[in-house]
Amino acid sequence: MSTPHFPQHVIARKRDGAELVREEIEAFARGATDGSWADYQLSAFLMACYLRGLTPRETGFLTEAMLRSGVVVDLSEIPARKADKHSTGGVGDKVSLHLAPMVAACGVAVPMISGRGLGHTGGTLDKLESIPGFRVGLSIPEYRAQLGRIGLSLIGQTAELAPADRKLYALRDVTATVECIPLICASILSKKLAEGIDVLVLDVKFGRGAFMKDRARALELAQTLTTVSKAMGKPARALLTSMEEPLGHAVGNAVEVEESIAFLRGASSRDLSEVTYALGEQMLLLAGTARDLADARARLKAGIDSGAALSKFRAMVEAQGGDPRVVDDPLRLPQASLRRALGSPRAGFVQDVDPMGVALAALRLGAGRARAEDPVDPAVGVTSLVKVGDRVAEGGALCQVLANDGRALEEALGLLRGAFVVGDQAPAPRVFIDGRVG
Ligand code: URA
Repeated sequence: MSTPHFPQHVIARKRDGAELVREEIEAFARGATDGSWADYQLSAFLMACYLRGLTPRETGFLTEAMLRSGVVVDLSEIPARKADKHSTGGVGDKVSLHLAPMVAACGVAVPMISGRGLGHTGGTLDKLESIPGFRVGLSIPEYRAQLGRIGLSLIGQTAELAPADRKLYALRDVTATVECIPLICASILSKKLAEGIDVLVLDVKFGRGAFMKDRARALELAQTLTTVSKAMGKPARALLTSMEEPLGHAVGNAVEVEESIAFLRGASSRDLSEVTYALGEQMLLLAGTARDLADARARLKAGIDSGAALSKFRAMVEAQGGDPRVVDDPLRLPQASLRRALGSPRAGFVQDVDPMGVALAALRLGAGRARAEDPVDPAVGVTSLVKVGDRVAEGGALCQVLANDGRALEEALGLLRGAFVVGDQAPAPRVFIDGRVG
């Protein structure tokens, strides 16, 4: 007969630095799911984890217990290999929107369950919902059927997937226990591995605009994620990517969809292109669809050149109830009523674009949400952003601000003025991909 694992005993053992056994961690995850642990006990345990850390074994047990707290989608009837990409979040990170159809165009199925924006980072679901009619709330059978039909499904988390994470993430958010690598690992992997994937590629961002500010912590997270995923039978690889300036030229919702559609037509900034191709290459390699990096890149590029990736995107929009005409006519996306350019105070080279300054301006315009229940305005945002290294004339546009409210527009302009540095010297070229793990 197994011993009952009373919450206070498990909390005390973690508080005192013991390594917990599988059953104790399972009791905690079960307690979060069925309500048998009170919020104050869950919170105390989370704080003990934050202060004491978790060993790799404990992190594996926790990930597995949180994954098993809900449904793990079975996609075995779909013959294609299934790969997904997860990003730890950044400013202007619209990569999923165009990368998923690019990979699907190469014959790898992409079952992607994404989140909403919170705080300074945007969310894939909010961006997709700026397409008129687009439904992110497919049921699991609909998700599976669409994946079988077109090789691509991009939906929101459902109540059946990793319910322990839903409860614990909400508590972590209000108990100052988010920034704990083992808890982050279990949270991310419990959701991603519930999708029914074969392999996973992780974009672990670091820098001013990322969740992880420094590279050493990002590396530790990447190592933890790839090790635990592999131990659970799902090969994973992580790229460390820089988030020292917004990714691409646009930050918002409809404006990012427009930028992704442009990407699928072959137009991109260098940073967005490098990050997208590097992640796509790893997805094809891990899925066994490409021989090497060069082969993977050639396949992804062929999908863009032939229009196959754009067709996949269009098919996904149509399958999920969205208006596919936005693909050819982006003016059908929600449009803001006010537009203002921010002029450069001097001529020179762009030395810096602070991602947090741009993110806070977009948040002020209404493109993001400060609290989970806030609505977002799909039309507003910041677009035509210059990139570090660009040359600008005095008075030349540093960006365009799209707003639906005059006061928000003025305040966003104020925030943006402090985000750009223009100087005489051309800055050294930036490195966008700064390491690979797994
Ligand atoms: N994203 C998640 O899904 N969970 C975390 O804990 C942090 C980022």
